[in-house]
Amino acid sequence: MSTTETLVRKAFLPFALADIDDTEVAEVTSVIRSGWLTSGSKTGRFEAEFAAFVGAGHAVAVNSCTAAMHLALEASGLRAGDEVIVPTYTFAATAEVVRYFGAKPVLVDVDSTSLCIDPVRVEAAVTPRTRAIIPVHLGGRCAEMDELRVIAERHDLCVIEDAAHAFPAKYKGRTVGTLSDFTCFSFYATKTLTTGEGGMICTENGLLADRCRVMCLHGISRDAWKRYTAEGTWYYEVIAPGFKYNLTDIASAMGLAQLHKANRMHERRVQIAGRYTAAFRALPELEPPPEAPADGQHAWHLYILRLNLDRLSINRARFIEELRRLNIGTSVHFIPLHLHPYYRKTYGYEPEDLPVAYREYQREISLPVYSKMTDDDVQDVIDAVTDVVARNRR
Ligand SMILES: Cc1ncc(COP(=O)(O)O)c(C=O)c1O
Repeated sequence: MSTTETLVRKAFLPFALADIDDTEVAEVTSVIRSGWLTSGSKTGRFEAEFAAFVGAGHAVAVNSCTAAMHLALEASGLRAGDEVIVPTYTFAATAEVVRYFGAKPVLVDVDSTSLCIDPVRVEAAVTPRTRAIIPVHLGGRCAEMDELRVIAERHDLCVIEDAAHAFPAKYKGRTVGTLSDFTCFSFYATKTLTTGEGGMICTENGLLADRCRVMCLHGISRDAWKRYTAEGTWYYEVIAPGFKYNLTDIASAMGLAQLHKANRMHERRVQIAGRYTAAFRALPELEPPPEAPADGQHAWHLYILRLNLDRLSINRARFIEELRRLNIGTSVHFIPLHLHPYYRKTYGYEPEDLPVAYREYQREISLPVYSKMTDDDVQDVIDAVTDVVARNRR
């Protein structure tokens, strides 16, 4: 019988760790050696291969998902005073990009099972000023895109998916990246495909892609690569006050190497999530996250475990602390936006205004789920969680 002491791991298991090997190192090194460091042929190739992977018409590489969402909103024509519907259960970026325009993020509650934006509440939040919806595929499981599309069509709204967690994911057999006006991916260090920092905008609309491309590099009509190579010229025109959001070739080289092993990394996360759920399903103190429907695909960026607090004698904070003492790193996704001081002060939100998000947030823990984890790492997490439950049953 293992005791709590024997369960303590020798080394701390981080919550997230990038799956980097010699291929990424070699690819990045070769870009550095080439002397061409910023957006160039590698970035072009990364865009083309990423678009092919998800089946999107166009892909524009940028330096974050935040930048991707900013550019998508810009291309959609958002203006000051407009409203954009955003789930409260998300990261800061999803709503802050709306504020960049002096527009208003209208925070909406989530479905209690999926923790994704609730279409019924979206419909109720639409006003004559609403211009867009930004659904978030929380943890890598898709929001109800068909229902959201019907609402968007009825009210002539743009749909911009925050797919920061959703590579590679599928909704009703269709790949995320092909479903809406814009899909914005993140390649942040903890994400399922990483370039350290980075992002991608996918769209089927060539004109909108061109607008994002221009605005991601100062509103300049020709990109730097074309300007400085033999096929380019010195001449350029600024057609709008753009931004500096381009992705470097260094980052793109890493992205290409990651893309080439994306399926393997995904399969490993599926296995880990499956082992967790098989173990935790048996414990009434725990509620494992829902799988994707049979015709969908969960990206498993996050494994969001919920605690049935009425069956436990400790709260979520203590649960996290107990796991930390066993050398297991965890996180919480997310502190709903309407609980944060900025949104409370600016829009007067109270915690109970969006009760589902408030309730679910208080009982959620995100467990490590990344392809670098060994079978022993996975077992350590299962043993640690099981031990904390066993010692703290009510
Ligand atoms: C749901 C969600 N949206 C957007 C972002 C922002 O991504 P990035 O850091 O690439 O800007 C994150 C980052 O963690 C996120 O979790």
